[in-house]
Amino acid sequence: MSVKIGNNIDLGAFPLLLAPMEDVSDPPFRFVCKQNGVDMMYTEFISSEGLIRHAAKSKQKLDIFEYERPIGIQIFGSEINSMREATEIASAADPDLIDINYGCPVKNVACRGAGASLLQDIDKMVAMTKAVVESTQLPVTVKTRLGWDDNTKNVYEVAERLQDIGIQALSIHGRTRSQMYKGQADWKLIKEIKRNPRINIPIFGNGDVDSVEKAAAWRLEYEVDGIMIGRAAIGYPWIFREIKHFFKTGEYLPGPSIEERVEVCRTHFTKSIEWKGEKTGIFEMRRHYANYFKGIPNFKEYRMRLVSLDKAEHIHETLDEISSCFDVSLLT
Ligand SMILES: Cc1cc2nc3c(=O)[nH]c(=O)nc-3n(C[C@H](O)[C@H](O)[C@H](O)COP(=O)(O)O)c2cc1C
Repeated sequence: MSVKIGNNIDLGAFPLLLAPMEDVSDPPFRFVCKQNGVDMMYTEFISSEGLIRHAAKSKQKLDIFEYERPIGIQIFGSEINSMREATEIASAADPDLIDINYGCPVKNVACRGAGASLLQDIDKMVAMTKAVVESTQLPVTVKTRLGWDDNTKNVYEVAERLQDIGIQALSIHGRTRSQMYKGQADWKLIKEIKRNPRINIPIFGNGDVDSVEKAAAWRLEYEVDGIMIGRAAIGYPWIFREIKHFFKTGEYLPGPSIEERVEVCRTHFTKSIEWKGEKTGIFEMRRHYANYFKGIPNFKEYRMRLVSLDKAEHIHETLDEISSCFDVSLLT
């Protein structure tokens, strides 16, 4: 059965979503994920205060492209009025939906009354969400965690109350704020929400899915409507196509060859330069090389070269060299 968000977003059966990730899920990275079959994507989170003050960095994050649809713009903030205004600004960028971040655990966000800190004040979270829902014609979705800490896992109540005021889907990262990214994600509570007869919006599970096997096992075990994947897609956008292929055919696709790794890395690089300009594109791409070539023995020399070169043509030459020097069979 097809998963739908609102009246117009049809994600097909058991969609895979790209998680919003600051400094990662920008248009160049989203491009390679889209090429590999992801069903829905989000921008990285955007500060409501930044948007209403017209900060260039926040505005740039509103850039979305037709081929990316369906795509959501994710916003966060601590002030209801700012969130209302930010929703209007984000909606004018014409995404398919607006997503609210109630999950970010980092001090700068959660200790300033935004992100996961709203899990400590559900009344305010509900009021904020209501303000966002009322400020846009677009469907509104939410991404959150299990709760603030082990003693306050309140996402069950959060799900009911947010559905009641009109959110159209909920993504849940199976950790508390206190856990940050430590320990293992626990999806048991996500399953309880999915089984709650009052809940009828799509529930997406998030946290630690990093293989076809896990996606298949957790789909069955936790009964979610779809899976959101973050870290495992960094340097490995093929995870989407591999999982989708398995669900469709029951068979495993072979991993990408070296040539494919080089080509997708090159596409990511080219798009980075197109979107960010040569200098920033080259600089920000440096964080991705190690991930694209993970598991290749004796790659260090090439990685060191890729992260030190500052001319696009030299990076392309190095990528050519990698393509011709490494044997696929060396991949672990
Ligand atoms: C580098 C990085 C940046 C992130 N930025 C965001 C963000 O902007 N918004 C958000 O809702 N979650 C953010 N997250 C959390 C992810 O969306 C996701 O919930 C988390 O990584 C768990 O999923 P995973 O195990 O599939 O990575 C970020 C995570 C990482 C690793």
